[in-house]
Amino acid sequence: MHFSSAHEASRLQLNAQGQLRHFLTTEGLSRAQLTEILDTAEGFIDPVSGAIVNRPLLAGRTVMNLFFEASTRTRTTFEVAAKRLSADVLNIDISKSSTSKGETLRDMLWNLEAMTADIFVVRHGDSGAAHFIAGQVTPQVAVINAGDGRHAHPTQAMLDMLTIRRHAGAFENLVVAIIGDIRHSRVARSEIHALQTLGAKEIRVIGPRTLLPKGFELMGVQLCENMETGLRDVDVAIALRIQNERMDSALLPGAEEFYSLYGLTRDKLKHAKPDVFVMHPGPINRGVEIESEVADGAQSLILKQVNYGIAVRMAVLTLAMQGQLAVRG
Ligand code: CP
Repeated sequence: MHFSSAHEASRLQLNAQGQLRHFLTTEGLSRAQLTEILDTAEGFIDPVSGAIVNRPLLAGRTVMNLFFEASTRTRTTFEVAAKRLSADVLNIDISKSSTSKGETLRDMLWNLEAMTADIFVVRHGDSGAAHFIAGQVTPQVAVINAGDGRHAHPTQAMLDMLTIRRHAGAFENLVVAIIGDIRHSRVARSEIHALQTLGAKEIRVIGPRTLLPKGFELMGVQLCENMETGLRDVDVAIALRIQNERMDSALLPGAEEFYSLYGLTRDKLKHAKPDVFVMHPGPINRGVEIESEVADGAQSLILKQVNYGIAVRMAVLTLAMQGQLAVRG
């Protein structure tokens, strides 16, 4: 399957008024557009109790989850988010679909559209898949990228931005470190675009040379191979999962050596600011990229990230539906 460039994805996701009609990538969106997502998500969080509220903004709409790759957090929080908005939600079981009988992806999409889909939420192992699908669907259907290959995971990036804004404060004052397997990480790419657009003071990526992709310096990010230097005085430390399933050659020392050099432990965290926040998109590998005491400790925001994921996905579903309705006229 051939997929087009990230630039095209960024162009395809806006309608003529500059509103989101699909959400494929954080790349190319303006600070105002990213802030609108964060502010809309904030509106779904009760300011007193912190609970996620119910709003029937998508009553009568149908959201279909198309997950070609495994997921716990993203698929479930999209389902919860759609239900909180009173949408009808269908989780399509790809392993039991007629694609196993030779039906093409395009035919499957057109048949699901005929079942009155308004929004497809798509996770796929191939970079560019959500963009490809957005190019195939009729103009009435919105496509939300729930993670495509190494390319992008925009809703994860935005829930991370909401977590940072709520707990660490204004982006302009923040030094953020992203640690580990940057090379294979769609989360890191989407976070870097979002952090830069939102004006973060400094972004560092830390990991072994083999997992630090060339060209990231050109994005204005500092590359560090040393945890002590990389973590010095950071406000937010984001550990990433080692993506063994995406490694096509031996790019890592053993898991034990990786943990000893790059595992986020209480000891290494002493180099960061005393009130540093710890984040991880999940799923976490305890004792590989993060120490249990750090993942479960007082400075960890990992489960808050999951919870805010509901509000951010409610925001993205609502905004994309509004952008689609503007296209429908
Ligand atoms: N963070 C994330 O995308 O987790 P899942 O793979 O469980 O959805």
